[in-house]
Amino acid sequence: MAHLLVTGGAGFIGSNFVHHVLDHTDHRVTVLDALTYAGNRASLDGLPEDRFTFVHGDITDAELVDRLVADADAVVHYAAESHNDNSLDNPRPFLDTNIIGTYTLLEAARKHETRFHHISTDEVYGDLELDDPERFSESTPYNPSSPYSSTKAGSDLLVRAWVRSFGVQATISNCSNNYGPFQHVEKFIPRQITNVIRGIRPKLYGAGENVRDWIHADDHSSAVLTILDRGQIGETYLIGADGEKNNKDVVEQILTIMGQPADAYDHVTDRAGHDLRYAIDSTRLRTELGWQPQYQDFEAGLAATVDWYREHEAWWAPAKDATEAFYASKGQ
Ligand code: NAD
Ligand code: DAU
Repeated sequence: MAHLLVTGGAGFIGSNFVHHVLDHTDHRVTVLDALTYAGNRASLDGLPEDRFTFVHGDITDAELVDRLVADADAVVHYAAESHNDNSLDNPRPFLDTNIIGTYTLLEAARKHETRFHHISTDEVYGDLELDDPERFSESTPYNPSSPYSSTKAGSDLLVRAWVRSFGVQATISNCSNNYGPFQHVEKFIPRQITNVIRGIRPKLYGAGENVRDWIHADDHSSAVLTILDRGQIGETYLIGADGEKNNKDVVEQILTIMGQPADAYDHVTDRAGHDLRYAIDSTRLRTELGWQPQYQDFEAGLAATVDWYREHEAWWAPAKDATEAFYASKGQ
């Protein structure tokens, strides 16, 4: 049994990871989360009190971080400002949390010689052409496009430097786009599902030809546990489930699942600097560490996600109006 400190555990992927760990291992979990607009304490309701502790605090608070890291066997670092559209509107919080927050955690891990796993994104590699035969791999050069992805790239480089210069026992994973329960309504899939529930037409940026490589959040969690168990210190692992789809197809699938005409959506102003295509080659994780995704049927996973949002309106409704007002102010 181990004691994991999970930063950002009240967010989308972090909360899925906490549920996964408590369901599939006997580890203890402490979550450190600032409960920004993206954090939701209700995503962690009902967890066993003898194995789960919630700490409301900021990863840039060095004194708090030092105390919590000293008490943990491993840190799993999810906390971040995570939304590209917000980073185009106001980049500053991305620098504070993604760069200074990661630095603060690394310094504590260095001091206490604590195992560290850094959660990152495929966006650090920039984007691919639609017909590019090569997908992203561990050796693809960094080429981030947005304030969000550049701060994630910066945080990855900090981790690599702390491994090499100070011997921190760290691994990094870069994952593709996640879907599943507990995702904020600002993100593509939950935004469209909750729009349809509210009687609003889904909003597609530009022509909708951009491709994302979808993976269920639960598969991301099992991959991270695998890397924590068997990953080689200092190494990077790409996480993906061969789930490439263009945005137009995903919107049409959501509308069909929800009993609406497949063309009942609007094209809106495109995202500035919009990355065209992400695609992950996860061969290394599969062959070296023996990981396999469990959610291979995207349509079934999407239908289950639609059901989750239908059944959990009280969870997402408080954020919906403000999110749509923000997008409306941007012509989106
Ligand atoms: P999210 O925005 O849903 O959650 C982020 C969480 O971090 C929230 O609970 C928030 O309150 C917390 N947080 C933010 N700033 C904090 C701070 N200064 N101190 C403490 N807590 C703070 O994000 P997500 O989509 O769950 O992403 C989690 C991680 O996974 C991020 O590092 C992101 O870069 C990475 N990632 C996300 C995806 C995806 O598809 N969403 C894919 C690959 C990687
Ligand atoms: O690839 C991993 C990344 O995936 C993570 O690092 C990010 O944290 C996560 O937010 C996600 O980034 P994207 O920018 O790909 O996700 P988003 O949900 O914002 O958008 C997905 C695609 O859908 C993208 O091409 C933009 C488009 N989109 C988005 C919204 C919100 C629309 O067409 N309409 C919309 O309303």
